[in-house]
Amino acid sequence: MSDVLILDADQAPPTETTTPPRQPKWTDTFAYIANPDQFCRQNLEQYGPIFRTSVFGGTTIFVGSTEAVQMALNGDQNYTEMGLPNTTMTMFGEHSLFQRPDLHRQRKSALRPGLAGQAVQGYLPKINDVITQNLQQWPAQGEIALFPAVEAICFDVLVPLLLGVELNDAYFQGLPIASKTDLKQVYKTFFDGFYGLLPWRSPLTTFGRGLQARATLIKFMQAVIRRRQAETHLEPTSDFLSMMLVSQREDPEGVFSHELIENQCLLQLWASHYEISGLISSWMYQLGRHPQHFEALRAEQTASLQDGSDPSCLSGEQLKTMTFLEATIKETLRTLPPTSTANRRLSQSVVLDGVLYEKGWALIAEPRLAHILPENFTQPDCFQPQRFMEDAKAIDKYAYIPFGGGIHGCLGAQLAMVVAKIFASHLLRRWDWNVQSSAQFVQFPLKRVKDNYRIQVSRVNTH
Ligand code: HEM
Repeated sequence: MSDVLILDADQAPPTETTTPPRQPKWTDTFAYIANPDQFCRQNLEQYGPIFRTSVFGGTTIFVGSTEAVQMALNGDQNYTEMGLPNTTMTMFGEHSLFQRPDLHRQRKSALRPGLAGQAVQGYLPKINDVITQNLQQWPAQGEIALFPAVEAICFDVLVPLLLGVELNDAYFQGLPIASKTDLKQVYKTFFDGFYGLLPWRSPLTTFGRGLQARATLIKFMQAVIRRRQAETHLEPTSDFLSMMLVSQREDPEGVFSHELIENQCLLQLWASHYEISGLISSWMYQLGRHPQHFEALRAEQTASLQDGSDPSCLSGEQLKTMTFLEATIKETLRTLPPTSTANRRLSQSVVLDGVLYEKGWALIAEPRLAHILPENFTQPDCFQPQRFMEDAKAIDKYAYIPFGGGIHGCLGAQLAMVVAKIFASHLLRRWDWNVQSSAQFVQFPLKRVKDNYRIQVSRVNTH
């Protein structure tokens, strides 16, 4: 990486330093939110992979080149800080990963064991089970609304894993939320609250309703936690909540206070559910658009499962052998990245490659830019999963950023890939699907096919 020159408060930048091109426009925030793909592409063509905007107020620099992405993602505690809007921080609450930068590293390390390694291996039977059972509900032959159908299954996978709850009616008796349907609705209101444009705490605003939903979810989690604490034995790898509760039992003065536990359950669900649902539905869409890959994918499934073990419960070892499947998922994340990275705000001015980035400006590292630069990916507009097989090692980690990177890199990337692979594997072996038309996409806050987009599915008679 080129050296980042961090300027002292009174230090002038070297002579011939320039600033990022483009004059911010007052319409930038609306243009970006309405269509981030188009906003990024148009500005990339006109100004290159680094340009200045007024997205979300103030000066916000979009960066897509590998060096600038690396600079943006690696400045924490040094020359950047998280630059999330006040409303977002309020929605996160004071026990999130972001409110206390001084505790971020400690909290993140404590949370990781619930979302990676052994824990994820332990989750495999549940993930397999819920996906295979739910897929049985799809029509043997007919149409489905793609995103809602996938999202319903992901909800059933992720809620038990992250909140440690069961989703049957009996479980909800005596809890502050009365049913799975209500939980889903409250979660949606909570999620939407992060993106309300009006910062008023009123039931008339998306933000205000989001805060109310957050309060309801916290009460719900408090009741769930009380129930779980009454259990004499807790298995740390059975779900994310158990991992935290066991940790708390072992070290009551440690990282896991009650408040942290409640809030982390909400944070992880917030960060994962629509992202994973978006990824899997986009993967189905991309394969429907590029059916030439089905044959190789199915041949790989046959090879991966030839050991004769139960194909309805895929093991970690089997998933590892599905390298082409993984490549198609990665290519989906490249071509249709669900989200951009969070804002970073410069706490010091820096100079990189002769360009000045001033203290106070925000930086957004955009996969929508990095993933379509020809210097990063040849023929960037083509869906070519092979690039993640042959050239995988040549792909710079700052050129491919669907999960962000640096200190704030995604905590659930491994879990996301595992859920997507299991879902995809069961689909490939049991279902055919095809898409008849181009989908329209919701663009913000996450990129995903619109709810009304339908595809044809039919069950096939293999194992
Ligand atoms: C396809 C699925 C997913 C995508 C595309 C995705 C993407 C991202 C991105 C872009 C970031 C921001 C990184 C940055 O600003 O540098 C992030 C952060 C984060 N993600 Fe994910 N994510 C996914 C799934 C998950 C899952 C399954 C979980 C947990 C269950 C999760 C938990 C988090 C958390 C906690 C952070 C904040 C980390 C920090 O600030 O240190 N994500 N994710």
